[in-house]
Amino acid sequence: MEYITYEHNAEAADIISRYYDTPPLAYVHSYGCQQNVNDGERIKGVLVDIGYGLCDKPEDADLILFNTCAVREHAEQRVFGNVGALKGLKEKKPGLIIGLCGCMANQKHVVEKLRQSYPYVDLVFGVDGIDTLPGLIARKLEKHKRILLEPAQRPVIVENLPIRRESEFRAWLPIMYGCDNFCTYCIVPYVRGREKSRRPGDILAEFRGLIAAGYKEITLLGQNVNSYGKGLEESIDFADLLNLLCSVPGDYQIRFMTSHPKDASHKLIDTIAAQPHLCKHLHLPVQCGSDRLLARMNRHYTVEHYLELIEYARARVPGITFSSDIIVGFPGETEEDFQGTLDLVRKVGYMQLFTFIYSKREGTPAATYPDATTRQEKTDRMSRLLAVQDEIAMGLVRAQVGQTVRVLVEGYGRLEGTLSGRLDNNLTLEFPADASLMGQYVMVHLTDARATVLLGEWMP
Ligand code: SAH
Ligand code: SF4
Ligand code: F3S
Repeated sequence: MEYITYEHNAEAADIISRYYDTPPLAYVHSYGCQQNVNDGERIKGVLVDIGYGLCDKPEDADLILFNTCAVREHAEQRVFGNVGALKGLKEKKPGLIIGLCGCMANQKHVVEKLRQSYPYVDLVFGVDGIDTLPGLIARKLEKHKRILLEPAQRPVIVENLPIRRESEFRAWLPIMYGCDNFCTYCIVPYVRGREKSRRPGDILAEFRGLIAAGYKEITLLGQNVNSYGKGLEESIDFADLLNLLCSVPGDYQIRFMTSHPKDASHKLIDTIAAQPHLCKHLHLPVQCGSDRLLARMNRHYTVEHYLELIEYARARVPGITFSSDIIVGFPGETEEDFQGTLDLVRKVGYMQLFTFIYSKREGTPAATYPDATTRQEKTDRMSRLLAVQDEIAMGLVRAQVGQTVRVLVEGYGRLEGTLSGRLDNNLTLEFPADASLMGQYVMVHLTDARATVLLGEWMP
């Protein structure tokens, strides 16, 4: 593993500025998880660094980049659909560069498909190649040839990539990249490569910069944050890193995702209990509630271990809430396995569930597992799960009414004249107020709930 520092590519910037009469515009769209969204912010930063302006509409762009996600088939189909829709644009504007990067670009068969069937895609590069983008664009402009890079994993971490963040008060901060867990359904380890941790000093420096710039909510990112620190010179684990960051003075809150239950420790939970900067919420994806399937998923924990963690967290951190990811219809899931999932969902009482119907990913072990459950059965199980979850969430939300809470104002509410925010425990609320409060901490009295959204009154 090597740590390198991004350097401005003056030669590429020069080639680009000579090629266009006025500064060219780039449209970058990111799909998928927060990690990918954050990569997209860095891609934008790099493009601005070499002279591009950014635009919101593909029609205005000289460069269109889709930063893609491969986690489910649906995600890939959407990208192919959106790329296909650019054909007409390219015919009208032959100088337009169309590029694809991110997780799909790290799959051999995708690059092959683009080569064969999408001749108007000019540029393909993988998740580890953001710092090489200036050179690729310059080469493309000079040689007028397609550049479709084959997937390759680079054992490097590039620090100091320029960045154009989407928000002025909420920021994503990656602490590690890749994944070594190889859950049998999941494509991420294949497209994102081996786990690599950023050095604590680099994370701390970026964190300090964010706090100094007025950021109020920092979300630490990694596919399994609890295994942070492996392979570093320093002896440090995730809880130590949280303590290090929390020592920075300021008015801010820290969230993190994702915690893998097999590596979530009591030390982590004790740290959440002790550090006021840490939100009292844990996203702890369980995937399903059947030990038989958990083993087949290669998750390395049991329902019992998972519930013990939840119980420990409840005892140590009063008011803590939980959210989870659930896969319905994993190959071989029986009605009994599914009942286990419903049972577990009821026992934990999640505030929020992210539910997915299993999607077969070529190249993963589960793609070869026999799967007799019909699509109809799977969608039926999904709606039963959602019905159980809705009732739980509504009960939990309603129980918050009457409290006065401190929240960070994050956006606009659904009703005219309202703003929205999130409680420490990740619940959302809406209240009438004017936009000048955006990005600030305010006190709100919770007066009512509509479905899973709390309603409140601002207490100036
Ligand atoms: N690293 C994180 C999540 C990464 S992907 C973790 O381990 O929790 C986000 C979620 O997508 C996963 O938690 C899982 O629920 C879902 N997912 C991943 N692969 C999937 C597949 N092949 N089909 C359906 N859902 C999948
Ligand atoms: Fe995928 Fe499992 Fe890694 Fe999460 S921990 S990214 S689900 S392989
Ligand atoms: Fe998708 Fe890649 Fe994230 S596959 S979920 S964008 S790591």
